[in-house]
Amino acid sequence: MHKISKIGVLTSGGDAPGMNPCIRAVVRTAIYNGLQVVGIRQGYKGMIENDMYDMETRSVSNILSLGGTILKTARCNEFRTDEGMETAYKNIKAHGIDGLVVIGGDGTFTGALRFSQKHPDIAVIGIPGTIDNDLYGSTYTLGFDTATNTVIEAIDKIRDTADSHDRLFFIEVMGRDSGAIALRAGISCGAEAILLPEKSTAIDDLIKSLKEGQLNKKSSSIVIVAEGDKSGGIYDLAKAVQKEVKNYDIKVTILGHLQRGGSPSSFDRVLGSRLGFAAVNALIAGHSQKMVGLSANFIKLTTLEEALTEHEFKLEPDLLKMMEVLSI
Ligand code: F6P
Repeated sequence: MHKISKIGVLTSGGDAPGMNPCIRAVVRTAIYNGLQVVGIRQGYKGMIENDMYDMETRSVSNILSLGGTILKTARCNEFRTDEGMETAYKNIKAHGIDGLVVIGGDGTFTGALRFSQKHPDIAVIGIPGTIDNDLYGSTYTLGFDTATNTVIEAIDKIRDTADSHDRLFFIEVMGRDSGAIALRAGISCGAEAILLPEKSTAIDDLIKSLKEGQLNKKSSSIVIVAEGDKSGGIYDLAKAVQKEVKNYDIKVTILGHLQRGGSPSSFDRVLGSRLGFAAVNALIAGHSQKMVGLSANFIKLTTLEEALTEHEFKLEPDLLKMMEVLSI
């Protein structure tokens, strides 16, 4: 076990609301414990390009309410190569950094794990920061709550106009591999159906249930489609349904990147603070190659390897069934 004296902190992959409160917690917990902190800009790209700066207590003043990440972020293919990783390692060593806190999703953790396996002298702790809520070992990831609230606000507005015009809306939400936002938003907005990457939906069944809804005097219908759903894309899906459900006026809305922005919710501010605080304490305690997460409202450490494990159907099947029942 090596003693940590200087921590590097970075955000990587897609930004997520709550990253700033988390950075603030990392910086201040480190300084409180007598450690130095270096902010690494644009994730692994900044490690390779040596884009780093010393952070002080006041470097993170008044950022709790800010969306995005003050450290900026990037998706960095060069870090996947041996050369990229070696350059990053040399830069990190030159700064005297011996502990890393990486805030991001599965791509970020994959890089972190490979890096620390190659260079075990740099301890690494991961913080689950992604709106996708798809990491094993934490019930919630940073940004999921805020993003879902943003989606709900948008869909509630769409419901107003859908209902006024008796229309059927197909709404695409984020989640290339994860239907977590779609499921929570579906329950919260009373969607008639949700389509998820984790589960295939027969178009015939969807059409049947939409027709039943009309017979049951539903004036509007909302179908939430997660970005990674395998039905062939939201526009083709809407066209296929339109052929069969002729008397419904169908519209398509793609919510896109607005889902990633905005001021973090109270939940994400507290979660970010807790995870940042826990990550630094984990480094001080000698942990490495682990993720700090939240389980049953307690902080839990999971190995990065396990956090990245593919778990079959990570969404809660009971919630899916409940949604189906409640939307009749
Ligand atoms: O991983 C977070 C996420 O927002 C996914 O839900 C989405 O599929 C992806 O990032 C979009 O990435 P980008 O902003 O790089 O297009």
